[in-house]
Amino acid sequence: MEARSQWGTRAGFILAAVGSAVGLGNIWRFPTVAYENGGGAFFIPYLFALLTAGIPILIMEFTMGHKYRGSAPLSFKRMNKKTEWLGWWGVLVAFVISTYYSVIIAWAISYSVFSVNLSWGADTEGFLFGEYLNLSVDPGQTGSLVPGVLIPLILVWIVVLGILFKGVKKGIEIANRIFIPALVIIFLIIVIYALTLPGAFTGLEAFFAPDFSRIADADVWVAAYGQIFFSLSIAFAIMITYSSYLPKKSDITNNAFIVGFGNSSFELLAGIGVFSILGFMATSAGVAVEDVVAGGVGLAFVVFPAIINEFPVFNEFFGFLFFASLVLAGLSSLISITETYVAGLVDKFNISRTKAVLFGGGLAAILSLLFATQGGMYFLDAADYFINQFGVALVGLVEVVMVAWVLRELKGLQNHANEISDIRLGSWWTICISIVTPIVLGYMMFGLFKQNLMREFAGDTGNYEGYSDTFILFSGWAVAAAALLIGILISFSRWKTSETIEEEIQKTGEAK
Ligand code: PFF
Repeated sequence: MEARSQWGTRAGFILAAVGSAVGLGNIWRFPTVAYENGGGAFFIPYLFALLTAGIPILIMEFTMGHKYRGSAPLSFKRMNKKTEWLGWWGVLVAFVISTYYSVIIAWAISYSVFSVNLSWGADTEGFLFGEYLNLSVDPGQTGSLVPGVLIPLILVWIVVLGILFKGVKKGIEIANRIFIPALVIIFLIIVIYALTLPGAFTGLEAFFAPDFSRIADADVWVAAYGQIFFSLSIAFAIMITYSSYLPKKSDITNNAFIVGFGNSSFELLAGIGVFSILGFMATSAGVAVEDVVAGGVGLAFVVFPAIINEFPVFNEFFGFLFFASLVLAGLSSLISITETYVAGLVDKFNISRTKAVLFGGGLAAILSLLFATQGGMYFLDAADYFINQFGVALVGLVEVVMVAWVLRELKGLQNHANEISDIRLGSWWTICISIVTPIVLGYMMFGLFKQNLMREFAGDTGNYEGYSDTFILFSGWAVAAAALLIGILISFSRWKTSETIEEEIQKTGEAK
């Protein structure tokens, strides 16, 4: 039995965990979510969500990985044989995310090349959907592969799988030690430049202006929890996997606070940068900031290129830095997402890391080709929406209910963390995980199902983005459901590791 890989240093682990958390979600999701949900006032529900769900769950996942020393499926199985499927469910959600997250990074690579001569031209929207993505088919049709996306996509997979081949210490840790400091430096340059633009403060005013009336709105709280889950990479196998490589002596609670606050600091920095830039755009066009706000793909690949065109100086250089920061933030997250299934395969089927990377990563790379076709963006949009709502958030809910209420494992985890950590977990931690989080997530899931299912029966409003029923069924629901069903199926197959079989015999022996 090969000894389990380990991080070389504490800083290495923290950088990798921060690298996972800081991703596209921080740069293009947070600023818009905050703005649309009360601006400055959003920080109240956001901080509440960070302290009652984000950091407590991060501590729980770090402790699980450290205590059971396994990939998510193995850790869940060691906690209780009956919950292995939950580990696989998270792993499969991660698998799906990796197939399209990689494609967005590929776009960002193309755009960092385009920025060298601002080749997107004046009509940035037409450029993205027309010339670049070649989006000329209806939702549900693939059309042919788009070479401009395919080539950088191949590059993304070569880099990610190459790093994963090298292992935890020599691959993941070293990559993050380079990517994360580089990302922080690049981003600081971007923010400083953005703050000097005329109109920057108009943007910041719009971003921070608190609309306290929104605090009473339940949707705002749901948005805050959603953002925290997405942003911290919790509730789907990643953080359990990363912490399973921690050495025995590790300060878990402290690490979780550093990662949680580190991620939120970057989020705030991104908000400041993005809104300074939007303020510049609004001021020079003589319109209100609310008229230029966008999120997601539109923000990064339509609005930003348009603004970069207008910059007084350094347009090309700034464009390059911005898209390079997306690439770095994205790659370090994609590495962590892909590692979840590499680790799961190694543990379950007792194969070498090389084989697991080739098989798991190879399969994800092949499937990601779907999103590199002419109709890829529609598939991407639907998969992203459904897997996030019915993957990440739902896994999170089931996870806390299982651990806290069904298996009643919180006490054991709390003792484990307290034995090795500086900050002691008190009843606040138990209350957050067993009561506050399930209530908020439960409410959130109820609302989502109502919105996406019942309204169809009621026949009033349309589907998500007005897509057809068949398209939503196959590209959205089916993907989210498959992650759960395949997860359950894999958990029924046998473990190939002698160690785990022996352990099982021992455990059942003990129990009797
Ligand atoms: N936390 C990363 C981000 O904010 O982009 C990685 C990530 C988490 C991506 C969850 C996607 C996701 F659904």
